[in-house]
Formats: sequence, structure tokens, C-alpha cells
Amino acid sequence: MKVLVTDPIADAGLERLRDAGHEVETAYDVEGDALLSAVSDANGLIVRSGTEVTEEVFEAATDLVIVGRAGIGVDNIDIESATEHGVIVANAPEGNVRAAAEHTVAMMFATARSIPQAHVRLKGGEWAKGDYLGTELNGKTLGVVGLGRVGQEVAKKLDSLGMDLVAYDPYISEDRAAQLGAELVDLDGCLERADFLTVHTPLTPETENLISDEELAQLEGGYLVNCARGGVVDEDALAAAVEEGVLAGAAVDVFADEPVSPDNPLLEVEDAVVTPHLGASTEAAQENVATSTADQVVAAFAEEPVVNA
Ligand code: NAD
Ligand code: MLT
Repeated sequence: MKVLVTDPIADAGLERLRDAGHEVETAYDVEGDALLSAVSDANGLIVRSGTEVTEEVFEAATDLVIVGRAGIGVDNIDIESATEHGVIVANAPEGNVRAAAEHTVAMMFATARSIPQAHVRLKGGEWAKGDYLGTELNGKTLGVVGLGRVGQEVAKKLDSLGMDLVAYDPYISEDRAAQLGAELVDLDGCLERADFLTVHTPLTPETENLISDEELAQLEGGYLVNCARGGVVDEDALAAAVEEGVLAGAAVDVFADEPVSPDNPLLEVEDAVVTPHLGASTEAAQENVATSTADQVVAAFAEEPVVNA
């Protein structure tokens, strides 16, 4: 069988496919007609977040059996169309959870202590010690929006750093939240009580722009961290809230359009720390998601159960 890989994944995943006797073709950064042509004779397609797997792709890929997402979010894959075309979609829901949670904690410290801003100035020869008076996480309230795998891992880590926890997630039980030491509240309660708000939902029609002007005003004086998905937080509203001092700061790893265009408003705001979707970018996480995805593609070709479909 032929597997087309259109976003870079760890070699261990590619080797696993080849070891199982499959042909692997890598074609990174292809889009439009080039993507349609590349996928036309593929039996498997492996992507990360960079490739949009649209209805057109499913139309063109007449021999496709499975799309493997080497990561968690499947918002770049048209699931309805996959179902209509009888194509399995499988992700790797566990392999990068720790990496995403660690990046979230790092981003929280980065914004609370202005680490990137001070770094840039010191590299430029400026000893700006007097300009940065940070905020401790210890003793502050963390609001977690979306208490799933990553949200829970973040909650555990920040609980151990002395934060109080509140969470908003309409799909988990109070008992589960309580096991993590978090009080389950509604979104208003989460925004009003949090000093730091961290978002960990998928991007769905329900969560698109879940956090916009009104919600940011409720978080007044706090910090917002988004290492989940661009589009869950309204970027224009967030940039304005930080610029105007409604929020003390923000840290953002994910954007509505990636790669971000140079005129994205968040890039202009001094107190908004940004990274280019690095949440899952650790060696361990990339090896985990690549091998887990490859295993599922191999299973689908062998007509065996695909665990994360
Ligand atoms: P998950 O499915 O385990 O958890 C998501 C949680 O969000 C669930 O508990 C769900 O009940 C909750 N949720 C759904 N709709 C909600 C709503 N309207 N309001 C509040 N909560 C809602 O997913 P996960 O593995 O924890 O991943 C979370 C997010 O992080 C995803 O968007 C994923 O793509 C993203 N992610 C990003 C990176 C990165 O590189 N930055 C890495 C890993 C994961
Ligand atoms: C994910 O949802 O797993 C993240 O987007 C990580 C990634 O693939 O970069």
C-alpha cells in the first residue's frame, strides 16, 4: 500500500510503515492541485496540523483507506466528508499530552515574568532589570477551560505549584474535577475568578470565539494562555485587550490561520508572548505520535481494529 505523508513526522513512524512493507512518499508543504495529484493514488494519508484535508482531497483520493493525524486536533480534517467517502480518520490522542501541558506551563511563566521581552532586550545589550516586576503563580487562581487530557495535566502541574483551581467543562463530572482539586464552575465563574485562564478545548462550532471581548473583560487584570487551537480565542479581541491593559498579558501558541501572517495583531503587542505552534514539538512527543499513527495505518490496511478512529 502507498502512504503519502504531507507534514513532517518523526522517522520512527516512517520506518514502521516501511517495516510493515508499505511504500512511503513524503510531500511536505503541498497544497491545491499538487496535493490533489499527490493523494490521487495514495491508500493512506498522514498529516499534522499543516495540511487541510478537505472534501476535494477525499474526492481526488479514490483509493484512500485511512487518514492518520499525527497529533490530537482533527479540526483540519473534514470528518463528515471522510465518513461519506468511507475513509477512516484516526488521531494520536495521548502521545503529545505531556509536551502540550509542559509548553502551557512554560508559556504561563513566560508571560507572568516577561521572560521573552527581557531576553530580547538583554541580547540587544540592555540591562532592563528595573522594567520587569512579575507575578507569582503561587497562590493565584488558575481557570481551565476544557478539562480533558491536556487540561487535566496542566491542572495537576499547576496545583503542585500552589495555584487554586477552577474549571469550566460542560462535559465532565464534578467528581472528576474534584479528584484533580478543581472546582467545576460555569464560564462566567471561571473568567471572574481566574487570575490565569488557560484554554484546552478542541476547535468546534461551539468553541469558535468562545473567548472574545466580553469574556476578556470578565478576566480583567488577568493573563490568558492559549496552547489549544487558534479560533477558540478571538485574536483581534485578545490583542486589543492586552494592548489596552484590560489584561496583564497573554501567551499564544496557536492561531486561526497558520502560519500566521506578519500583520496578525498579536505579533504587534509587547505583552503578548507568541510561539509558532510548538506545543507538541518535543522529540518524545513526535516519536510517540508518529509511531502511534503509523501503527493505526498498518492496522487499517490489515483490516484490524484501528484504536483511535
Ligand atoms: P480532549 O478531547 O482530551 O479534551 C478537550 C476537553 O474540552 C474535553 O474535556 C471536552 O469536554 C472539553 N470541551 C469541549 N467543548 C467544550 C466547551 N464548549 N467548553 C468547555 N470545554 C469543552 O483534548 P486534549 O487532548 O486535552 O486537547 C485539547 C486541545 O489542545 C485540542 O484543541 C488539541 O488539538 C490541542 N493541542 C494543541 C497542541 C499544541 O501543539 N499546541 C498539542 C496538543 C493538543
Ligand atoms: C495537536 O493537536 O496535537 C497539535 O496541533 C500538535 C501538532 O500536531 O502540532
